[in-house]
Amino acid sequence: MTDRPDPATLPVRTLGPAELTVTAEGLGCMGMSFAYGKPDRDEALATLRQAVESGITFFDTADVYGFGHNEELVGEALADVRDDVVIATKFGIVHRDGDRMPRRVDGTPDYVRQACDASLRRLGTDHIDLYYQHRADPNVPVEDTVGAMAELVEAGKVRHLGLSEASADGLRRAVKIHPIAALQSEWSLFSRDLEVEVVPTCRALGIGIVPYSPLGRGLLTGAITDVDQLAEDDFRRTQPRFQDEALAANLSMVDEVRAIAIEIDATPGQVALAWVLAQGDDVAPIPGTKRRTFLEENIGAWRPSRAPSAARSWRRTSAPCWSTSTMTTWSDWTISDLPAIATPTCAG
Ligand SMILES: NC(=O)c1ccc[n+]([C@@H]2O[C@H](COP(=O)([O-])OP(=O)(O)OC[C@H]3O[C@@H](n4cnc5c(N)ncnc54)[C@H](OP(=O)(O)O)[C@@H]3O)[C@@H](O)[C@H]2O)c1
Repeated sequence: MTDRPDPATLPVRTLGPAELTVTAEGLGCMGMSFAYGKPDRDEALATLRQAVESGITFFDTADVYGFGHNEELVGEALADVRDDVVIATKFGIVHRDGDRMPRRVDGTPDYVRQACDASLRRLGTDHIDLYYQHRADPNVPVEDTVGAMAELVEAGKVRHLGLSEASADGLRRAVKIHPIAALQSEWSLFSRDLEVEVVPTCRALGIGIVPYSPLGRGLLTGAITDVDQLAEDDFRRTQPRFQDEALAANLSMVDEVRAIAIEIDATPGQVALAWVLAQGDDVAPIPGTKRRTFLEENIGAWRPSRAPSAARSWRRTSAPCWSTSTMTTWSDWTISDLPAIATPTCAG
């Protein structure tokens, strides 16, 4: 089930009014530096190279992933194909020097400028293709933050703007200041909160949608059945969806996904990805992996016949989706501190 497509045939999607073109499936790079167990630099670099060879053009990182490490890794791996790929990164989740825990969000214009220059240095590039605010700042109007981001576009440092975990209202306010190419939020068979208001708003405003954690942070692949499979420092150990009754409920849903996978000769992860891919031509998920074998398998989900088939099967067999509220505490900074202009459901 690792049918690798011809790179020339990988489908593409266009995001936002200025039509940023990306492959329908991108690569989430966070786990290569951060959050999901011990990173392996050589395998991560090989995975990035293999993604390029497979035709993937859409790479997702953030300044907070590995506290700069991930941007450096992505920049190094993609240096010789820089003009052929889209690099998306994010700013706004801040940690203190010498303290490796995210502490607060910062959307002040001064910080936006400083963060962009630091990301450009780490990525080893003169421009960022898609620059997201990672989380809304409770103390700074979105207009001020997006205004500063728009100046980066004018300066040629950034090509397109995005927001991560923004609310419908935040999106409506942001586009009055500058076109927004993409909204990045969690969207998967597990996390469907944004379908109520945010997805229709994106569509009304012409904003593309980049679903993160489309594999439910790995759970939807069926590979994780017990939290003890995760490394001691794996961030998922703190997530509600991996705890006790929630995990049991989620695993029963994974059984449904597995049944569909058998029916359509796919893996559970491919079904989960195919379902996201089938949500529209304005949707480009970024499944995350730090290893080549998973990358191969995930690319197999693109097969056009699989997406509609998975979507149809899910509608037929599914109980109402178990919507996750994955509020996560990172020390003294919590996602619930965010202002009324943003209603995030997930952290990470
Ligand atoms: N904007 C935000 O706030 C935000 C939040 C979270 C993530 N993101 C972005 O979205 C990307 C994707 O999200 P994510 O990484 O959190 O979650 P995900 O894509 O749902 O799942 C990633 C996990 O699934 C595992 N996995 C991947 N393919 C697999 C396969 N075929 N079989 C078995 N396991 C597989 C990975 O394992 P390995 O690690 O062992 O490869 C990893 O642990 C991230 O890399 C990051 O760039 C953004």
